[in-house]
Parts: sequence; C-alpha cells; structure tokens
Amino acid sequence: MISAGPYQEPPGAGKSSFDLIEAEKFFRELNLMPGVTFLDLGCGQGAYTLPAAEIIGPSGRVYAVDLWAAGLAALREAAHREKVKNLQTLVADSSQPLPLASGSIDVCLLATVLHDLAEAGTAAGTLREAARLLKTGGKLAIVEFNKKAGPPGPPVDIKMSPPEVEAMVAPYGFRQDKLVEVGPHNYLLIFRREAIPGAAAA
Ligand SMILES: C[S@@+](CC[C@H](N)C(=O)[O-])C[C@H]1O[C@@H](n2cnc3c(N)ncnc32)[C@H](O)[C@@H]1O
Repeated sequence: MISAGPYQEPPGAGKSSFDLIEAEKFFRELNLMPGVTFLDLGCGQGAYTLPAAEIIGPSGRVYAVDLWAAGLAALREAAHREKVKNLQTLVADSSQPLPLASGSIDVCLLATVLHDLAEAGTAAGTLREAARLLKTGGKLAIVEFNKKAGPPGPPVDIKMSPPEVEAMVAPYGFRQDKLVEVGPHNYLLIFRREAIPGAAAA
C-alpha cells in the first residue's frame, strides 16, 4: 500500500453502484484487455476493481485509490483471499497529485464518484489528474446515475446527466466515445484522452 497521509472518511464511503448495474454489459462495453494498466479512482471496497483485476490478469497492473482507508483494507483482504496479485491500493485524495507517472494509465474509472467529487469541490483536481495520468487515446470511464428523482443514488439535483458530465470533463482534453445504459438506473460514458497539440508525447 502507498499511503499519502491521514484523511477523514469522505461522504460516499461504504456506498457502491456495482450491485445495481449489469456487470457483464459494463465490462463488455469497457472492453478491458489483459495486460493493461487500470486506475480506479474512488474505488471504495473495490467492487469494480476486483473483477477488473481478474480480466486484466498478471501481465497488467491495477491501482485502486480512495480516501477511505477501511474500504481499501477490505479490498486488500479480498484480493488476498482471491489470490489477486496485480493490485496496488493507495490511500489518497484523487484531486491531488498521485504517486504515479504521467501517461502511464490505459483506463481510468470513476464509478458513481464524480457527483460526490463535484459536491465536494474536488472534481476539477481529479479530472486534471486523470488527464495527466492517462496515455493519449486512453479511456476515462464514468458511471453515473440517471438524472431521475428518487432512489437509488443521490438527490436528483446532485445526479448528473450525460451532457452535464461531458461539459465537466471536456475542458480537460476528453472526447466522448460511447454512452450506454448499464442497468435500469445507471449509464456508462467513455471518453478518450486527446493528444494535446504541441505537447510532448505522454
Ligand atoms: C459512492 S462511492 C463509490 C465506490 C465505488 N466506485 C463503487 O461504486 O463500488 C464513492 C467513493 O469515492 C471515495 N471518494 C470521495 N472523494 C474522494 C477523493 N477526493 N479521493 C479519493 N476517493 C474519494 C469515497 O471514499 C467512496 O469510497
């Protein structure tokens, strides 16, 4: 484990959308390949992280980042039980520079996290960090709740529609690639990190 300092448990700790989504469809649409480098920002207890790590296999690398130390401890225990060895957890704020190299990540996931980050004022820093870490052409995958009143998910004024998500991420150099429903309550948006004109190759 890499630890970047002591943190309070953030709002959203202990919640997961994984049981609400059609996992098979989600992973089919995400099209993870063995050997890739995957970053799960706001991973919680790793409901998405562990199946991703199994698909990616021992030739790849999975980084699981959360401010919630107890969630990451549970993830490490589950990974140990399931003999998953390609996983590294980081207790860290995703909106601050992470101890990972620029342009080192193929796929970055924010699974029902962006609305929490937007509420907390940490979305901009997190998207800046995702843009720094992703390779040119790499995928930013965002799962959010359909913007409808009522549960599951946060109040409707905090839920984000796909156009709202796109407007938030586009300024960081992400171009929308795909929008799919991944269950009755959630959608998956996939963006590609664009090349920055004039910048050195990531
Ligand atoms: C609703 S939960 C989603 C967990 C996981 N993605 C899932 O769906 O199974 C949101 C997660 O984001 C984490 N989180 C919130 N703000 C964060 C930040 N600034 N940096 C890292 N993690 C954060 C919370 O601790 C929580 O585990």
